[in-house]
Amino acid sequence: MEVDAETLFNALGERYEDAYADSPGLLEVTEYVVSKLPRSSHVLDVGCGTGKPVAAAIASAGHTVYGIDVAENMVRIAASQVPGTFLKADMRTYTPPVKMDAVFAIYSLYQIRPSDVHKMMYRFAEWLKGDGILVLGVSPSSALVGGKGVHDPVWDCTRSKVTWMERPVFELYFSQTAWLNLFREAGFAIELEKMFDYISKDPKHTRSETHYLIVGRKSVSHPLLGPYPLPECLPGKSMRNESAWRRLQGHLFLKDDERMKLSSMLEGHQRILDIGQGLKDFLGKASARNKSVETLPTPFNNLPYPDAQFDAVIVTMILDYVDDLRDFLLEAVRVIDKSSSNARIILIQGAPYNEVQKLMNTVCTPLSCKNTGTAHQGLLLHSAMKILAEIGFGGTSLRPLSTSYSFDENSSSNRSNALVEMLPNVWFPGEKKHEQMKRELAFPIEKLLHDHPGFLQNELVILEAVLDDH
Ligand SMILES: C[S@@+](CC[C@H](N)C(=O)[O-])C[C@H]1O[C@@H](n2cnc3c(N)ncnc32)[C@H](O)[C@@H]1O
Repeated sequence: MEVDAETLFNALGERYEDAYADSPGLLEVTEYVVSKLPRSSHVLDVGCGTGKPVAAAIASAGHTVYGIDVAENMVRIAASQVPGTFLKADMRTYTPPVKMDAVFAIYSLYQIRPSDVHKMMYRFAEWLKGDGILVLGVSPSSALVGGKGVHDPVWDCTRSKVTWMERPVFELYFSQTAWLNLFREAGFAIELEKMFDYISKDPKHTRSETHYLIVGRKSVSHPLLGPYPLPECLPGKSMRNESAWRRLQGHLFLKDDERMKLSSMLEGHQRILDIGQGLKDFLGKASARNKSVETLPTPFNNLPYPDAQFDAVIVTMILDYVDDLRDFLLEAVRVIDKSSSNARIILIQGAPYNEVQKLMNTVCTPLSCKNTGTAHQGLLLHSAMKILAEIGFGGTSLRPLSTSYSFDENSSSNRSNALVEMLPNVWFPGEKKHEQMKRELAFPIEKLLHDHPGFLQNELVILEAVLDDH
């Protein structure tokens, strides 16, 4: 059984620094980034380890350092030898206190799962200021000894079990091209790459390793609307089988803090139109408490309500299926009471790292003769944001919403079978290659359910738009 990162690095402590800190290649890249930083920058070191050499070099150049690490022992050592704010935290759930000028994640992404690496790229971008710098230290899959490992085509990476510093560990590798794609898709322009061989100074672990450092500069305003570059135009209306979709939504799960995000957004609203039934799915019966909520499960060309009936319209996972985005939004805005100080429209679509959409787009869509699958979610929201600004709802903000599809089936193979049956029925019912889709979905679904047993991550993005003068 492989050791997790927390156990591994709690046990290694200073031994890791002794083996890896003296790396001329890493120091050179760190110095390059430091030379590009504005004076008194805020810099986050993700998986900071003992703080040497990276956090120490940044702090000694006069910048404010924040460091997080999942291993308590590493945090303790870093705090004892580098000036800065160090915290035990898992990068997947952490939120930084301020926007950063630079984020470093040096050799700290090996032990998280493929969809989480995708998600972290967008989170890093969100954590940075407008033109902030992201620095990653990784190893390309070409460096895998003897090419060992299993390739995962959905996330374009290789999962491997190796012995490292005398312990069995899980390690994840992306090719050099895949890393560059990840940077580009999350909205970064590459500034520098450096690849070099490094032999650790640990007497019991002297293997040569290939280290690959990549420096990217944030070049988009809305990373959550990726992957970038955006396609030139929307593919047109897509199709969804509503009863299969309802069955899938029956498995939707939200943690309390995520539910709070939504309910606090709707605080003070009395008359709500819930198109797509998201409010009901996310908040359950609690959503209707002290409020008048009208629910429409599917989009309508003409909403069956007079003007100015609602103070909020919430639209969930529907934009792929409207005939015309502009007409749909004009209708939604028509039924909003613009005299209400609370007037707002809330759109919820998939995040660029949404597991369900990634599965559909990489496995099923290429086998389909009819359906383009789910559209580019970021482009849908980009287009919606532009239209909303033109019709008076220009005060927009974006935030992620974490939900999952959870399954009670008693065994992992039953959960996997349930999903293999359920997902293609939503977007590809009756297709000629339906059986092939199911066969090809089995492996990646099994892997995802192994990564996080019992559920699939269904990450979303909330776009909130209020009237210009509010
Ligand atoms: C190989 S060490 C590198 C340490 C440091 N960045 C350096 O270059 O010296 C990887 C570090 O990432 C941390 N780490 C791994 N997974 C993490 C996670 N999910 N969240 C935060 N830290 C993590 C480990 O505990 C470990 O200290």
